[in-house]
Amino acid sequence: MITNGKEIALIWYEKLKEEIKLLDKKPWLAVILVGDNPASIRYVSQKAKWAKEVWIQFKLIKRERGIQEEELKEDIKKLNNDETIHGIIIQLPLPSHIDTNTIINTIYPVKDIDGFTAINMGKIALWDESGLAPCTPSGVIHICKVNSIDLEWKNVTIIGRSNIVGKPLVSMCINEWATVTCCNSKTKDLKSHTQNADIVVLATGKPWILTKDMIKKEAFVIDVGFTVIDEKIYWDACFQEISENGNPITPVPWWVGRLTVLFIMKNTLKAFYMQNK
Ligand code: GUN
Repeated sequence: MITNGKEIALIWYEKLKEEIKLLDKKPWLAVILVGDNPASIRYVSQKAKWAKEVWIQFKLIKRERGIQEEELKEDIKKLNNDETIHGIIIQLPLPSHIDTNTIINTIYPVKDIDGFTAINMGKIALWDESGLAPCTPSGVIHICKVNSIDLEWKNVTIIGRSNIVGKPLVSMCINEWATVTCCNSKTKDLKSHTQNADIVVLATGKPWILTKDMIKKEAFVIDVGFTVIDEKIYWDACFQEISENGNPITPVPWWVGRLTVLFIMKNTLKAFYMQNK
């Protein structure tokens, strides 16, 4: 079975909406957007749209590309100390003169709804579910669950080593008892790592890094990555030939992206409850 991520997300949004509608006080999500990267603007507008849909209040703070690290830290500290704000997102990527780890780790872990701070990443590695888990990897695990794929006894090959997807996903799959291999765009003989995989997750941003000859006939492929070249979008997997080969594969636009935004809203509500015990 491969269902549609958009439909799964819509069912969850209805549940969230019903729950949040009944709260006297509403959760607040603040997003800091630095510069005018078109992809970042698009992602932020999706977050704003779905927050509004489920009664989460949304605050956008826009900053110039040239902002200094100290100024950005001040913005975050203000949001940390503002009791009306429950979740903080720093839209990535940040300009190269700013140290991303320093900025992310300025966010209070209890408000870090992206799950990117060292504390929340550490909790994932320790299988401690009291923190906030990164949203795209949560989406990938959810895709397996709704497709009734139990990760126990399965070989999972993840292609991608980013802090946002690859690394936390390794821990989350290990927590589900999967046997995990983590590759990247510089892995030698990639096929030797994909041909025995029951599940392949792609998150490199390297076009067509996975082709049908590299995987088992029944392997389940979850594609998270894409690249834009000359205004054309290329996915990490050769979607057409892999789906024509009969492999179950999730297309990027209708699947993981939808679930990433959904888990941002779920994390915002979790953060709200953590701060209103
Ligand atoms: N840029 C691309 N993906 C993400 C994400 O999941 N969170 C943030 N903050 N920035 C991103």
